[in-house]
Amino acid sequence: MPLFRKKEQPGAEVDFTKLPRHVAIIMDGNGRWAKKRGLPRTAGHAAGAETFRTIATYCKEIGLDYLTVYAFSTENWKRPQEEVSAIMGLLKKYLLEAIGRMERDKVKMEFFGDLSPLTPELRELCERTREISSHYDGCQVNICLNYGGRDELLRGAMVYARDCLDGKADPNHLTEEQFSGYLFSRGVPDPDLIIRPSGELRLSNFLLWQSAYAEFYFTDVLWPDFSKEELLRAIAAYQGRSRRFGGV
Ligand code: FPP
Repeated sequence: MPLFRKKEQPGAEVDFTKLPRHVAIIMDGNGRWAKKRGLPRTAGHAAGAETFRTIATYCKEIGLDYLTVYAFSTENWKRPQEEVSAIMGLLKKYLLEAIGRMERDKVKMEFFGDLSPLTPELRELCERTREISSHYDGCQVNICLNYGGRDELLRGAMVYARDCLDGKADPNHLTEEQFSGYLFSRGVPDPDLIIRPSGELRLSNFLLWQSAYAEFYFTDVLWPDFSKEELLRAIAAYQGRSRRFGGV
């Protein structure tokens, strides 16, 4: 894909030969988007799911290797039952569509998080999506579902401890690479760029381990209003940064 000129894409000049490999997004601001329009919060989530479709398709088009989105956190169960059900309903709808389009889209899908508290139907859908898409190697979309960074680290530590007791791991020797293999994100490179829309300036328990050297991009745009142009602005900002990974 050629370099966009400023005239064609105001605000974003992206070098498509130097894209980040992995972009992660905290899809925030659905509730405020709905409130501003006098709509129920669930309408904001429906609009957010639509934005997710647009952005995921675009990420594949421009050739990103990995997109990870925060769809439902370990803390989001505290929301009213009606809102939780609406988000789960949107996920179900999306997964059914994704399965139907898989042959054409060739997107690989993964889920980060403990899926056991989901309904058997949704769990089965996640498993089926993961299985059918496992042999695709285009853009990999990771949906964080009942995901929390601390929860992920604790789970990883417990499995590692069990492996040590079973003699499968050495308690005196553990590298970062080895420990990464105990996380939901095993096999996926760390995100290069983490985007948080909606004006909030925090990580909210997202990819705590994996974000060690990520670049951050914050914007006031609410997630349902997030666009391809906004993504390009984020990528252009990323490309303007100097990444030193602790070196000089
Ligand atoms: C945060 O906005 C958003 C969520 C907790 C849910 C995100 C879910 C979706 C976008 C829909 C389903 C997802 C997929 C992948 C189909 P918020 O409600 O906290 O917004 P607020 O801070 O303005 O209240």
